[in-house]
Amino acid sequence: MSRAVLTFQDVTFHYPSGNLIHKHPILEDIHFQVNAGEFVSIIGASGSGKSTIFRLITGLEQPIEGKIYLNGKSMSNQLGQVGYMPQQDLLMPWRTVMDNAILPLEIKGVKKAEAIDEVRKLLGEFGLEGVEDAFPSDLSGGMKQRVSFLRSVLSGSNILLLDEPFSALDAITRLNMQEWLLGQWEKRRKTILFITHDVEEALFLSDRIFILEQEPNPSLKEVHVPLRRPRNVRDLTRTEVVIMRGHLIDQLRLKVKK
Ligand SMILES: Nc1ncnc2c1ncn2[C@@H]1O[C@H](COP(=O)(O)OP(=O)(O)OP(=O)(O)O)[C@@H](O)[C@H]1O
Ligand SMILES: [Mg+2]
Repeated sequence: MSRAVLTFQDVTFHYPSGNLIHKHPILEDIHFQVNAGEFVSIIGASGSGKSTIFRLITGLEQPIEGKIYLNGKSMSNQLGQVGYMPQQDLLMPWRTVMDNAILPLEIKGVKKAEAIDEVRKLLGEFGLEGVEDAFPSDLSGGMKQRVSFLRSVLSGSNILLLDEPFSALDAITRLNMQEWLLGQWEKRRKTILFITHDVEEALFLSDRIFILEQEPNPSLKEVHVPLRRPRNVRDLTRTEVVIMRGHLIDQLRLKVKK
């Protein structure tokens, strides 16, 4: 039987400032489960509450009602326990690549020299060899994302939360990064929760896709991606995937037209 890494049990949430969309909370009675080793994407219109789900998982926000279980435990503040790659402000511009990467280890109390040794062993695999003394402003978009991903892996968490990590990248870099991420996911056997606006990206990467909607009521639906692994980008042209893609895009467009 699959093991639940993350469970949302009837979670309702709105921001204290009273952010109620059409008089509904942003999230209302949301329930779902993510199992060990799964890759799940969350799609939804802008403002539908995708990043809010991550803020709840990390404990940056607390549910108004309902419970969130991480590895079987109901949680209060899990920020240090979850590998979280936020949507913005990924890297500290005044720290070098190395000093950014060792941050989660430093927070855990690992000695700096040991943290540097640990990161050094991973630089090659993350395509960052030779740039450890550079500053984030000197890196390409894809490199910045790899530093940020390295940092979330070093949190040691069995679940990684990636909030639109590739949205600023050009199409080719993005495809390379998607393939690289799938390789990392297969190798490290982590559970990944991945937010994206891009339906094709969600189909290429995920086992399941959650669709977050606000209209007519806040709700979360899910679909299973009908593709085996390993995947090739050409799999996206298979009939059943093309049909699903059209269906998902229609659902997202409905929201935009309103
Ligand atoms: N700290 C906050 N305080 C008050 N309201 C907030 C806060 N953060 C987000 N919101 C509001 O909550 C709603 C959901 O925001 P959220 O950032 O979760 O959306 P999203 O789906 O991630 O959007 P995007 O695709 O644009 O990143 C939005 O209406 C947003 O304005
Ligand atoms: Mg967001």
